[in-house]
Amino acid sequence: MPTTEAALTHFPPMGVYETLFKFLDATGKYMGTEGTHPWAQGFPLTSPIPGGPDIPTRIDFTYTDLKYPQATGGQELLVAIRDYYNHFYKANIATDNIAVFAGGRPGIYATLAFLKPEWRVLVEETEYTPYWDALKLLNRPYAVVPSNPANRFRPTLEDYKAASKALTPQRPNDGHAAGQVPQSNSANKFAHSIPALILKSNPCNPTGVTWTGEPLRSLVAQCSQPGWGGLFDEAYEFFHEPEPDSALRYIEDIDQTNLFIVSAATKGLQTPGLRVGWVIASKANIEIFRNFSSIAMGGVARPSQICVAGMLALDRARLARVAIGRYYGEQRRRYGEALKSLGFDLYTGDGGFYHWGRIPGGATADEFNERLFKHEAAILPGTLCDMHRLGPSSPHSNFMRFSFGPLKRESFEEDIAILRACV
Ligand SMILES: Cc1ncc(COP(=O)(O)O)c(C=O)c1O
Repeated sequence: MPTTEAALTHFPPMGVYETLFKFLDATGKYMGTEGTHPWAQGFPLTSPIPGGPDIPTRIDFTYTDLKYPQATGGQELLVAIRDYYNHFYKANIATDNIAVFAGGRPGIYATLAFLKPEWRVLVEETEYTPYWDALKLLNRPYAVVPSNPANRFRPTLEDYKAASKALTPQRPNDGHAAGQVPQSNSANKFAHSIPALILKSNPCNPTGVTWTGEPLRSLVAQCSQPGWGGLFDEAYEFFHEPEPDSALRYIEDIDQTNLFIVSAATKGLQTPGLRVGWVIASKANIEIFRNFSSIAMGGVARPSQICVAGMLALDRARLARVAIGRYYGEQRRRYGEALKSLGFDLYTGDGGFYHWGRIPGGATADEFNERLFKHEAAILPGTLCDMHRLGPSSPHSNFMRFSFGPLKRESFEEDIAILRACV
């Protein structure tokens, strides 16, 4: 039979899906369905958590809401986002500083896609899986800031400054793939003129390490300098103890910066299925997103926007911030203690809903998963969070990301029994 070759350039799905497919092959089940232990997955509980607010299961809208949405977001959602940051972080943003996207990832992808060619990206060695895919797909060179066992996955501002000095400018016909910044002895002489954008999840997925207070203020100040910018991905903002923090607390005048604060309803508002995210940036940068939306996105579903606007009401948001911090803080502690007692060498910070650590007994994450699959459980192999993507030779190869995001309190004993049987 004649076959038609696909017209599209092949590109594999992001790393997390690799684990999902292996799981399906081994168990015949989709991870996350009833009876599975979805420790590889990054979704939160979508049902109310103890002490938390109700979660809507209905959305009211009118015929008017079935018209095309506005390019950068409807007024009620823009106002709700503005008021949220101005209230909780004394930010000073206007609705013109906000663009709404269908989730956090499209906002991140759009920012990287429109970054001018002369800009270089600085990304920590251990980061959110699809940053690597996006950088590669966009053929965007980047430099890696060390984040590994040697610095306990806790790079400092000095590490960022040092990495920025290794950046090299774009040269025509370089021909290098994204991620492979050419090494050059003369790199330093260009360093001053190469604009650098820090791409960072904070709290960090997978490590949970979180910059707050003075260190975050200093990082924001650095990224506010001419020739610097930052994309702060705050998807896990609520999941931090003792309380959430945001780069927006420390930004003096966002219109004078190339800072991009990204967040979403996905984690903190517990609604990944609504597909609502946003980017907060200077009005000049937001205008580009508006233009992009008019060309390639057509706005975001109105019912989703209406629902999220209601969920961001200040009283509800206050309750959610406290309840999420408390519930997931307790889960972080109890799973942390149990994992340590089983011999895992943990490096987890104070944020997010993951544990990050080395698997005991010298097993690689892939070997460990083979054992877990027999119990319909899986973790995310650490190699998928390695921005060098060194594969089995990576220092990450016996690291795992254990997600407690989708877990109810009641599953703890069974979860630990499975882990105990597999170490
Ligand atoms: C660090 C980080 N940023 C952003 C997101 C946002 O995802 P979404 O595109 O589902 O809103 C996620 C979700 O896994 C994440 O872990």
